[in-house]
Amino acid sequence: MQIQGPHSAALPDREAKVYRNAVSRNFSFLKRTDRFDLLLVKSLALPSPSQGCLVPVADLHADDERLIEKLAGWRKENYFAYPTQFPVTLEGTRSWLRSRLLEVEDRILFLVLDQHGIEVGHLGFNDALSDSGLMEVDNVVRGVKPGNSGIMGAALNTLLKWAREVIGCRGFFLRVFEDNSHATAFYRRLGFVDDLRIPLRKKTEGQTTSFVPLAGGDTAPPDKTFLRMVHVPDSKNVAKSLILTAGPSISAREAAYSWDAAKHGWNHGWNHYLSKFEQTFAEYVGMKHAIATSSCTGALHLSLAALGIGPGDEVIVPDITWVATANAVLYVGATPIFADIEADSWCLDPASFESKITERTKAVIPVHLYGHPARMDQIMAIAHKHNLFVVEDAAPAIGAEFNGQKTGTFGHFAAFSFQGAKLLVTGEGGILLTNDTALYKKAHTLWDQGRNPNKTFWIDERGWKYKMSNIQAALGLAQIERCDELVEMKRRLFSWYAEGLHHVPHLRLNREIPGARSIYWMSSILLDEKARISRDDLRAELKKRNVDTRPVFPAISQYPIWPTVQAPLPMARFVGNQAINLPSGVCLEQRQIDYICKSIKELL
Ligand SMILES: Cc1ncc(COP(=O)(O)O)c(C=O)c1O
Repeated sequence: MQIQGPHSAALPDREAKVYRNAVSRNFSFLKRTDRFDLLLVKSLALPSPSQGCLVPVADLHADDERLIEKLAGWRKENYFAYPTQFPVTLEGTRSWLRSRLLEVEDRILFLVLDQHGIEVGHLGFNDALSDSGLMEVDNVVRGVKPGNSGIMGAALNTLLKWAREVIGCRGFFLRVFEDNSHATAFYRRLGFVDDLRIPLRKKTEGQTTSFVPLAGGDTAPPDKTFLRMVHVPDSKNVAKSLILTAGPSISAREAAYSWDAAKHGWNHGWNHYLSKFEQTFAEYVGMKHAIATSSCTGALHLSLAALGIGPGDEVIVPDITWVATANAVLYVGATPIFADIEADSWCLDPASFESKITERTKAVIPVHLYGHPARMDQIMAIAHKHNLFVVEDAAPAIGAEFNGQKTGTFGHFAAFSFQGAKLLVTGEGGILLTNDTALYKKAHTLWDQGRNPNKTFWIDERGWKYKMSNIQAALGLAQIERCDELVEMKRRLFSWYAEGLHHVPHLRLNREIPGARSIYWMSSILLDEKARISRDDLRAELKKRNVDTRPVFPAISQYPIWPTVQAPLPMARFVGNQAINLPSGVCLEQRQIDYICKSIKELL
């Protein structure tokens, strides 16, 4: 159905497609459950003090006669709240459960269980595949059992939070009879506000009475009115606790896969999730081979070792990056040479890169900093001209694109990170990708202690142990299966900053350069020197308002650990001194970003 009010416009095509996919995959993941133990793993906990949970109504309930009886009873008790009223039967409820709920792609229902596991009601979503990214709250029913006061409010809040944080839903609405004062008061307490009145006409056919919208030309007084309400979360308490710079989105999928890996991922099943994760990740990025590692740093190290880079060689890295990029160069005994970054993308400046090439240069490691792709067309052309290897440090840039091509597909190798602050998390972890089968085999041997793959316990060369565990890979598999929606959530977060900080003097956001599709792993701002507050004072003031920030990495050439002393490069030094990463956790809400933007504007 069409809805008016904030956020009602259709999403752009690409976002709408990702959103609709996320709805149908998440709904069906919950509904396609035929074991009770797994169903509990997929449940959503309600916060204290209710301590109950929401359990998805799933395939295993299709023949659960006890539940069907209960649902029929609730329907009878609440018939007055439904626009379609008919005599409730067990057969009707059974068939509704199958054909109008379990088999319908855009609908889901959760049972509300109290702290003892007893069903006290249900609620869910209907019509969830809209192009606007909005969901209709539906079927909110409370059984007439005394006690558990407040549990339905907690259940509804939990449901909305789940849809927002897991699926990336943009907002919620519902329809309720205007004369159902108990229900309208309940929804108002939970942040729903009146949006529109829909006059209805009563129609009776056989034993069924329906209230339907008035036909065109019907001007007689309506028999009943639907009130459409939209959810407008208030901004009170928005900064009650520290708003953090990062934080993942974890769904039932991660819980179910890692639970399964912990219980069954041993002996013959030891690498079930590992191989599936490697294959899925490689396919997502569009590369042939993948090796899951214990960190991105380890993956970078393996890539340089597999390329045969060693003492006497130089590897060019951007002067702004996490130390890991250049540390990997030290690990193979080579020397990192720092090149400057661009003023707009903050990634490796192709001209500076070319100016640093000597006869010792063997490779370059462009970094897709904070999720923004480096200018790979020019970097690849220069590398090709000088016969250099290219290792992409795509640690924070899963799903980013340059000229429509995914980061991680340009170079000889690419390394990604799943450390806990990244877009996709496995606690710690990384992955190495390549299209070159010989390089893959070499890196694989080095990753496994230099072990000969054809002999038991035989080592041919010095290697390392950089393996990821099957349990981490289970988490990683669930995360990569959700990657597209997480990317869109990050991009939307940046758009809220862009809106809130539009035209603020002395400040620039890390917007995409032409051709780039950033995933905005970190939404960031750069202050100019005329700002009336220093970068560090701004951070301190924001902290007092419960807004956490991070300084952008300093120009890393300044660290006292490199074999040659190199002066920090001008743009790297400037950005390193003047830029800030703002809170960018994928689950943050617009009201939190609005609060942060307002605080920044007051302080600048
Ligand atoms: C640009 C860059 N490279 C490499 C890494 C290292 O990743 P890991 O912590 O998985 O080793 C990071 C982590 O923050 C990073 O931001």
